[in-house]
Amino acid sequence: MKYSFTYALKENINEGISIEDIKNFQEKVDEAFDYVIKNDPAFIKLIKTDKYIEEVLELSEWIEKFDTIVVLGIGGSALGNLALHTSLKPLNWNIMSDMERKNKCRVFVLDNVDPDFVNSFYERLNPEKTLFNVISKSGTTAECMSNYLIAKKYIEDSNLKVSDHLVFTTDPEKGILREISKEENIKTLTIPPEIGGRFSVLTPVGLLSALSEGIDIKELYDGARKALDKFKKLSFFENPVKMNIALNYLYYKADHNISVMMSYSNRLFLLADWFRQLWGESLGKKFDLQNEVVKVGLTPVKALGVVDQHSQIQLYNEGPNDKLITFLQVEKFDKDMVIPIYHSEIEALSCLSNKKISKLLNSELKGTILSLSENGVPSITLSFEEINEKNVGEFIFFYELTTAVMGKLMNINPYDQPGVELGKKYTYAFMGRKGYENILAESKKPKLNLEL
Ligand code: PA5
Repeated sequence: MKYSFTYALKENINEGISIEDIKNFQEKVDEAFDYVIKNDPAFIKLIKTDKYIEEVLELSEWIEKFDTIVVLGIGGSALGNLALHTSLKPLNWNIMSDMERKNKCRVFVLDNVDPDFVNSFYERLNPEKTLFNVISKSGTTAECMSNYLIAKKYIEDSNLKVSDHLVFTTDPEKGILREISKEENIKTLTIPPEIGGRFSVLTPVGLLSALSEGIDIKELYDGARKALDKFKKLSFFENPVKMNIALNYLYYKADHNISVMMSYSNRLFLLADWFRQLWGESLGKKFDLQNEVVKVGLTPVKALGVVDQHSQIQLYNEGPNDKLITFLQVEKFDKDMVIPIYHSEIEALSCLSNKKISKLLNSELKGTILSLSENGVPSITLSFEEINEKNVGEFIFFYELTTAVMGKLMNINPYDQPGVELGKKYTYAFMGRKGYENILAESKKPKLNLEL
């Protein structure tokens, strides 16, 4: 991976954060970084062991029986699977033949409970060849659990044995899924208790579906581990993670509290989705560590280049200068294409002809960076020399570490999500769950209705 901070610097964009500003802030970043590393949080601890890789590899033979894995989970139990699937497999993977996929699995993620979405799914499955991976740390999330119940009925209605087509990925001891697994003899995988969903992609949460479709999960770990070593060793101004933290924090303090991640690659687009949850849920907090109300956060936005150049760039260039944009770039694509030569007498077309389509894509990216810089809009660029397991592993770890250190600098807990839990409780109450009746107390009713 290569990291460019050039166009985030005041020296190049005429406003914003300068090298001097970063130097003045260096000590704080170093302190926060050392604090996180010293505390060895769960997302770091887990890549130091092969435990989770081995746990998943033990199921290798079993999963070969299937041609489709359906992940039933939501949020941190779904987005990592989608990010790995989309970035590390061809975009048309799920519509390839078994032979083209070399008999590896198709991977689908059923996260939402939109009936149109859920129904459309089951119309296309072959039950005998489908394995459902129910992923929930708490084992109580309403969306995941209802999708589990629907899947269970689907398996039974297909006259198949439920335990042959289900695996639970959940807390090692606690929760409903753990209990059911014991009663019904269902295979299980572990989500380490101390890890939050959005930091769990490198646990069995993300690893099983990845393995089933032929992603090299050891290489993913290797990328994350090498990144950790590198980020621990490199000096401040050579250290991409420290520079990323310093710039993100200083821009946030300078009222750039929108973090756009704009991928110039369809395959990397869902990494931006994974990042969106990590950044939003980890850093968006009402209380600080002293329990004072602070209501902090940076709003993550995902965008796709070139498409959103024709949708968002007008706003980014000329609207409020309240963003720090991170571009994702690919240097070498797996497959490229040369634009054919036609209409050579027309200059607007002949300048495209005989050039690789990747050159057009990356020229558009360079053009966007320059146009933003002329408007004083800061940007950072992360380049993947190619999209492979090692680089995706590094990317994941880079943002997990950035997020954890940002949390320390912001004096909040980046590992909890009380705002998500509250919404879950209201859902239970609306669904009539016993014990949740009082949560919809009279005082929660609107004082004034405006329904037209
Ligand atoms: O990051 C998180 O903790 C959340 O997004 C959870 O992953 C999400 O709410 C699903 O929770 P669970 O895995 O308990 O079903």
